[in-house]
Amino acid sequence: ATTLRGYADGRGVRIGAAVADGPLQNESAYTTVLDREFNSVTAENAMKWDALEPSRGSYNWGGRRPAGEPRGRAQPGRSHTLVWHSQLPSWLANGNFSASELNTILKKHIDTTVGRYKGKIYAWDVVNEAFNEDGSMRNSLWQSKLGTGYIANALRWAHAADPNAKLYINDYNIEADNAKSDALYNLASQLLSQGVPLHGTGFQSHFTVGQVPSSMKANRKRFSDLGLEVAITELDIRIPLPADSAELARQSTDCKTASENCLGVPRCAGVTVWGITDKHSWVPGTFPGYGAALPYNENYVAKPAYTGLSNGLNPN
Ligand code: G3I
Repeated sequence: ATTLRGYADGRGVRIGAAVADGPLQNESAYTTVLDREFNSVTAENAMKWDALEPSRGSYNWGGRRPAGEPRGRAQPGRSHTLVWHSQLPSWLANGNFSASELNTILKKHIDTTVGRYKGKIYAWDVVNEAFNEDGSMRNSLWQSKLGTGYIANALRWAHAADPNAKLYINDYNIEADNAKSDALYNLASQLLSQGVPLHGTGFQSHFTVGQVPSSMKANRKRFSDLGLEVAITELDIRIPLPADSAELARQSTDCKTASENCLGVPRCAGVTVWGITDKHSWVPGTFPGYGAALPYNENYVAKPAYTGLSNGLNPN
């Protein structure tokens, strides 16, 4: 095997990419690399609530395959995301609903969406970004109106809609052992002791070059020791622009460290990168002056980061 997916298949794990509708439809290099290198796909935006139900009660499935991508892709889907504070449709964000109305709306969203793709999505990010950096609960629409119990309810509803899908809580800045990952660990332990169907922890892993945390493996292992799957769900490693060759080499090492550390922990389900090419990445828009965060450059040439990922997936 000489592709990322070849190595990942050999180890029984996923190497996934987040995909966007525009390049999927318009750039053949994008789909060529996707199909050759990746054995899992995640819709970068298309399965978020604002995309799925822009006006209340009218769902926009658009002939999508399970992960949210247009027809024609064969990869299994890891789907993102059911319950989040962001990218909510405006009817919901501005609706001023009571707690009981919100509860009903959330249950219907989960029943409808997970039910539609029953048996076709192998993992769901059920709850995304529920915590603040200090480990307190983020004051989202869900938290403020429903309290922390929304998390257990969302997991139970999703499990009822597809008993075979792996259900994850996903977040960023939880890769290291810190206040935020401690809070998630405590919540996960509590949910499991209550018999709530939680199966995995998603570590987004949006890093800056040279700053991959050293406690990453030990931190992931404690989640794995609870019996949870662990996965890297949104890997990218941003570099101050223009990226020089030393930074690209460091990025390669960081990619190897990240993927190797995940695969070195029992129950690692795999690694998803948050995009394929530097041509299409959320990074420069959100962190001005940074970019070059993905394994392929803007011309679809594999970067040293590709080799780093590949070495992390290939044990030899
Ligand atoms: O689709 C519209 C388009 O019609 C319009 O012309 C354009 C003008 O700005 O905006 C387009 O929507 C943008 C959308 O991406 C699709 O490109 C939104 O403005 C933009 O906010 C949105 O950003 C996404 C972001 O989530 C929103 O929070 C990024 O693509 C996506 O990569 C990012 O993904 C998140 C994960 O869901 C959760 N973890 C962090 C990660 C990175 O922020």
